[in-house]
Amino acid sequence: MPTQQDAISMLKADHEKVRGLLAQLESSSERSTSRREALLQEIAHAVEIHTTIEEEIFYPAYRDAVKKKDDKKLYQEALEEHHVVELVMPEIEETDPSTEVFAAKAKVLKDVIEHHADEEEKEMFPRAKKVLEKEELRELAERMEARKAELEGMRSDESEEEDEEEDEDMDESEDEEEE
Ligand SMILES: [Fe+2]
Ligand SMILES: [Fe+2]
Repeated sequence: MPTQQDAISMLKADHEKVRGLLAQLESSSERSTSRREALLQEIAHAVEIHTTIEEEIFYPAYRDAVKKKDDKKLYQEALEEHHVVELVMPEIEETDPSTEVFAAKAKVLKDVIEHHADEEEKEMFPRAKKVLEKEELRELAERMEARKAELEGMRSDESEEEDEEEDEDMDESEDEEEE
């Protein structure tokens, strides 16, 4: 089905969702470890899908359309920032959610992601709007929607059983399986 959405509003909507989840994670308490784990997992999946569609579809279109050196630099920097998030994510996933270390790492993750999303919204997206036609932005959104659906489908195949269990213990902590 053709989408009326353009690529930029689609990516911004993802940003809003992740900002909301990060804020919830920041305000979560040390006692709700299951909630922290569930939120973190949700953030990790949303970020992974978002960065994948950016790197596979949106960024290359941006890179090929811009001519100025500074605009190309934004592309390279954005990739590096994704890389930093990829490094921080597994670290926080391995940290005990009942600790201050977890809260500190969650705060850093939030800062890094917010900085990156702000930069895209304030610098890269306005440039992209100038160099890409409306029709191209709509076409990119369609391709990203399709890829997103595919990635989400792969995800739900993998974790269908896990998810069912998780829903039940969302807020009752203390029943984590430690390895
Ligand atoms: Fe990004
Ligand atoms: Fe983004």
